[in-house]
Amino acid sequence: MSANEFDNVSVINHPLLQHKLSYVRSADTTTDNFRRLVREISHMMAYEITRDLPTEKIAITTPLTTFDSPVISGKKLCLVSILRAGTGMLDGMIDLLPGARVGHIGLYRDPESLEAVEYYFKVPEDIQDRLVIVLDPMLATGHSAIAALDRLKEVGVTSIKFACLLAAPEGLRNLLAAHPDVPVTTASIDWHLNDHGYIVPGLGDAGDRIFGTK
Ligand code: URA
Repeated sequence: MSANEFDNVSVINHPLLQHKLSYVRSADTTTDNFRRLVREISHMMAYEITRDLPTEKIAITTPLTTFDSPVISGKKLCLVSILRAGTGMLDGMIDLLPGARVGHIGLYRDPESLEAVEYYFKVPEDIQDRLVIVLDPMLATGHSAIAALDRLKEVGVTSIKFACLLAAPEGLRNLLAAHPDVPVTTASIDWHLNDHGYIVPGLGDAGDRIFGTK
């Protein structure tokens, strides 16, 4: 891949995050540690993804004086979890963004076509007025992410960011072609997808590892 092929993509190359990500990838990591690590990584991702939020100054009175101090302004936030694995990132994101509203989009991958099929869609009524951060730990083919972003745009959302733990180059290409206006934040761009649509080296099935279903 060329150096700037993924223009609208930020990879968080922080030693602490990358350290935790290595243990998330390890097949030896237990379910409880996996969840905790994903939550901690999501804290760092929330920090990075909100880096460009606008601020405004308001008057604050400290024990010593009154002065104008920055607080976040602009659109309110909505976190949208792509079920079921997105839920693993949601807890950590909410820890840092406790005032955010939350939406859920249920999509499963058709095992033959690998296409996304929607089975659930519930988002806040005023989602059009919010900055929406879509969460899915694994950007594999990109089909689920594209379907989720299509749906959100259909209901009038205009400001969207996408956050994942791992991205496959194939999925990034598909996502950026379909939604070039949506910035992507990830902890890693991995090697490739295997024949079953899994990210390599990856971490396995994120949903199974978060919920301990395998
Ligand atoms: N979904 C997963 O959970 N893992 C992958 O590697 C790809 C898609």
